[in-house]
Amino acid sequence: MTDKAAAASKGLANVVVGQSKLSLVNGAEGKLIYRGYKIEDLAEHASFEEVIYLLWQGALPTQFQLVTLTKALQGEASLPEGVIEIMKRFPHSATPMSVLRTVVSMLSLYDANADDNSPAENQRKALSLTAKVPTITAAWERIRTGKEPIAPHHELGMAANFLYMLRGTMPDANETAVIDAYLVLLSEHGMNASTFSARVTTSTLSDMYSAITTAIGTLKGAAHGGANEEAMRMFFEIGEAAHVETWFNENVKTGKRRVMGMGHRVYKALDPRAAVLKSKSRIMAEATNNLKWYDLASKLEKYARQDEEFIKKNLYANVDYYSAIALYTLGIPMDQFTPLFAIARIPGWSAHVLEQWADNRLIRPDVEYVGPMDLEWVPIEKRS
Ligand code: ACO
Repeated sequence: MTDKAAAASKGLANVVVGQSKLSLVNGAEGKLIYRGYKIEDLAEHASFEEVIYLLWQGALPTQFQLVTLTKALQGEASLPEGVIEIMKRFPHSATPMSVLRTVVSMLSLYDANADDNSPAENQRKALSLTAKVPTITAAWERIRTGKEPIAPHHELGMAANFLYMLRGTMPDANETAVIDAYLVLLSEHGMNASTFSARVTTSTLSDMYSAITTAIGTLKGAAHGGANEEAMRMFFEIGEAAHVETWFNENVKTGKRRVMGMGHRVYKALDPRAAVLKSKSRIMAEATNNLKWYDLASKLEKYARQDEEFIKKNLYANVDYYSAIALYTLGIPMDQFTPLFAIARIPGWSAHVLEQWADNRLIRPDVEYVGPMDLEWVPIEKRS
């Protein structure tokens, strides 16, 4: 191995790629801070809109600032004319994450200033995308199930509006509170893979739509945002709390499978978001009188945490583990879990895009070439 390769790190683990004022992820102690505020305080007290303001502006909003932002988001929630009609022509088998990635990219075609990367235009696009992504997600759910999309309600906050557009009925306060807390908890998280991809795209002087499209494509993977859906599928496969030990011993102990929703590149202690979501998912499970999946998940977590390999490798539940239970209990379709993650993360991604623009340099790492050298050219007719 050359010096260059030795200096690198597989998967860029522990590589610091720059500075950010947005969030601190303290993996050793299991702490997460957005712009100086503890995630537990924000999940308990702040609305998603307050956190959006905090991420974009660097301080908590006054009442007036919050109302102004909320109204601006409500005013931007509708999709440009014609987009819903195009979505209706998509194959109904298209997955929600693929639809989201495609429609976000398509929105740039409807924006005359898509390539204007000035701070004011980028801030406007951040607001527009944050407001529209829940509308896209809910509309696709209705279209693919043969129902007419529901226009955004111009007086509801983002959490309630999402549930309203999905179901066509007003959500109750408990359901809205769980979605709101979920959106707060997932809105920002340091230099995770999707955020990094958004910053790489931005660093080439590309536009906000391209950066967010890149990030959605990166979030989709099962090792990242796709793990919430995979976790729920795993709980279904296990089926009963009584099968937890056998499933773990046959699949995880043999090295065939990973426990989806456990393990994290940075957290070597319990993900603080998982702790909040565990209690939220329990409250939802009790409220709906369906503790089956919560009980199964907590039994699997407990069993895994007693395993010597999990202890040695510091594998704990991550944010996706209990969010799967919370969202499933709310009746969100499993393949809409990751789009909901994207709804939460647009403010964080766009805040990173704005931060990247404020002090940009092309992100272009190096690689060690380990392929053949000095091969002789062979004309095509002589190749076998
Ligand atoms: N179940 C069982 N073993 C695991 C798990 C798991 N969930 N996660 C990691 N391990 C083991 C690996 O097998 C490996 O063991 P080894 O050293 O004996 O080969 C060791 O722990 C380290 O694993 P890596 O894949 O090298 O760790 P990395 O930091 O690259 O990966 C990741 C982190 C991708 C999150 C991993 O823990 C994982 O695959 N978890 C399941 C998927 C998941 O929940 N992803 C969501 C992450 S949170 C988010 O993105 C929002």
